[in-house]
Amino acid sequence: MTKKAKRDFIAITDFTESEIRETIKLAADLKKKRQKLDVLAGKTVGCIFHKPSLRTRISFEVGIDELGGNSIYITEKEIELGKRESIYDAAKVLSRYLAMIEIRTFSQDDVEELARHADIPVINGLTDLLHPCQIMSDLLTIVEHKGKVDNLKIAYLGDGNNVANSWLKAASRLPMDLRIGTHKDTPPDAKIFAEAKQAGKSKIIVTDDPVEAVLNADVIYTDVWASMGQKHLQEEKDKLLASFQVNSKLLRKADSGAIVMHCLPANRGREITDEVIDGPQSVVFDQAENRLHMQKAIMVKLARESF
Ligand code: CP
Ligand code: NVA
Repeated sequence: MTKKAKRDFIAITDFTESEIRETIKLAADLKKKRQKLDVLAGKTVGCIFHKPSLRTRISFEVGIDELGGNSIYITEKEIELGKRESIYDAAKVLSRYLAMIEIRTFSQDDVEELARHADIPVINGLTDLLHPCQIMSDLLTIVEHKGKVDNLKIAYLGDGNNVANSWLKAASRLPMDLRIGTHKDTPPDAKIFAEAKQAGKSKIIVTDDPVEAVLNADVIYTDVWASMGQKHLQEEKDKLLASFQVNSKLLRKADSGAIVMHCLPANRGREITDEVIDGPQSVVFDQAENRLHMQKAIMVKLARESF
């Protein structure tokens, strides 16, 4: 029997448009049925975390358990990836023990190197550049609340970070009207922006006018202004991004049926006010729940195509 080529999920663009749509459907189905499966029976998934995590860690561990597998939580202390030994050697050794790796770390290049050399699927659980599992599950949340994702007006407000970059990646696969409202000194990644524009799927603008970004929007999305590993920049970002706060005044510029999203953890009172995050348009806890169903769908897809 010939060995299947393994698949990774380290950027949304690792999936084709139809694979993204199928994975959203699969996640919705897994959510509806919520039963124990045996996709990962007898297998172990390594969950490497070099940054803190509530949602990603717990949803992966619960998801792995619900798929019949076993998980190992691995911090920087144990393997010192790329320091104690090369990423190549670590990838080869981990591939002999594990069936899959999920990794949250700083450098996207490290994740790509790990994936290149591992003989097992690698899933990106967040880097400084991207957070693909987050936006995949957010697409499910949008479908649940708006009935579709295609051609919606999606306004991302705040720091041009890993979450903003992942929205650009999503916009290069699915048609949407994506408006990123941010300061000129906190833009999303220039290469990812150029690639998303070049893909020609979506209408995409980056604007320093928060009202232009949210005008008649169907979805308003925000994230912390200073990401993990950048907390020393908090004061500077607070100043640059103050006018991009998602508050009730700004929300009134959006469509009256707009939903408000935040990947969490939130810095209440900074990028979003209590009245908005706790208000009737907020879907933040549906987003958090959907991380579980989407992680399961991604693992099922990679397992089917790699084992
Ligand atoms: N949204 C998200 O990834 O949360 P955690 O950092 O808690 O995993
Ligand atoms: N942009 C945030 C997302 C946290 C889920 C960070 O990287 O810290």
